[in-house]
Amino acid sequence: MDNPDLPRALRLQAGGCQALGSPFHAGLLNLMADALEAGDDLGGLFEPWAQADVKALFEDATPLRILGGLHELVLSGADSELAATYPKPGAPIDPAAAWTAARSAIDRHRDRLAAFMTHEPQTNEVRRSVCLVGGFLTVAKETGLPLRCFEIAASAGLNTNWDRFGYRLGEASFGDPAATVFLDADWTGPAPPVDAKVEVVERAACDRRPVDLADPAERRRLLSYIWPDQFERLDRIRAAIDLAVAVGTRVETADAVDWTARTAAPRPGAATVVYHSVFWQYMPPESQAALRATIEALGAQATTQAPFAWLCMEPPPGETANMEVRLTLWPGGQERILANVHPHGARVAWRG
Ligand SMILES: C[S@@+](CC[C@H](N)C(=O)[O-])C[C@H]1O[C@@H](n2cnc3c(N)ncnc32)[C@H](O)[C@@H]1O
Repeated sequence: MDNPDLPRALRLQAGGCQALGSPFHAGLLNLMADALEAGDDLGGLFEPWAQADVKALFEDATPLRILGGLHELVLSGADSELAATYPKPGAPIDPAAAWTAARSAIDRHRDRLAAFMTHEPQTNEVRRSVCLVGGFLTVAKETGLPLRCFEIAASAGLNTNWDRFGYRLGEASFGDPAATVFLDADWTGPAPPVDAKVEVVERAACDRRPVDLADPAERRRLLSYIWPDQFERLDRIRAAIDLAVAVGTRVETADAVDWTARTAAPRPGAATVVYHSVFWQYMPPESQAALRATIEALGAQATTQAPFAWLCMEPPPGETANMEVRLTLWPGGQERILANVHPHGARVAWRG
């Protein structure tokens, strides 16, 4: 296959991996791009994208598909030769050795990899809760009411358990310091209102394609999209999966607009919070408009005894890399930017 946009896309993704803290994947992708440019078709794994340009390759997250597929071979124990070259805590990374092993693993597991790559990559980033928690605290503090929490596009639903995690928020802390999932961030700015009384009286979540944590293959798929040299992220998601399984976390299969209209109307005696992270960009403009209208219509029903909040961690309009935490609380309905945050939650600049 001779698609010059493919190695170009791999190199661009390598830059993204480097910037977001995965030099291992950056190295692997650059070596993969070199191989393609030298005429290796990598077992035809990229055949479905033979005509795709860089934009289409990014929309399909094609580079993340092959990285996920290779990591899955390691996590499943299917290829010990490849596993031996993958990052280990405390040892230097060796992308060149990993690429040599990966290239022969591609021949050994070609069909398994091709099947893995038919799936759209799907992640669930637990550390985004450290970005959102200040929003929940703000709603609890300002309304003085218990919370009903509705997560749109929750993936595996790991962040529906945000109130069961422990947090360090700069100088402040919130939640159980002995929690199995403990989150912190490089925090700047004041602390959110950690003295708020937080009680979650109802929680629910939807996704158009939820990850079923009861299925070991789906759990492994979720882990496989975490970059293998990011040990803390891997530990965090494993702990959050265990917690979600232990408390019986459920995510309903539903489209964001229908589900929100059907489930999240405000009710007296609690503050209803509809929230989401890193999902807005996956909806076409007409669905974005429909969801906004649905949420605003629910907001218009809010009263002081039945307040309604829209909390999100999403990029500002027209951007994809920088993220903001925004809160709109009804009655009133004034949007506030609470924080600027790193896409994986590594940094939080809290404005309050
Ligand atoms: C990048 S993931 C983010 C998952 C999670 N919110 C997080 O921050 O870890 C985007 C999620 O949006 C879901 N999604 C995209 N469009 C959707 C829609 N119209 N309705 C429901 N879920 C949707 C996808 O299935 C995927 O799980």
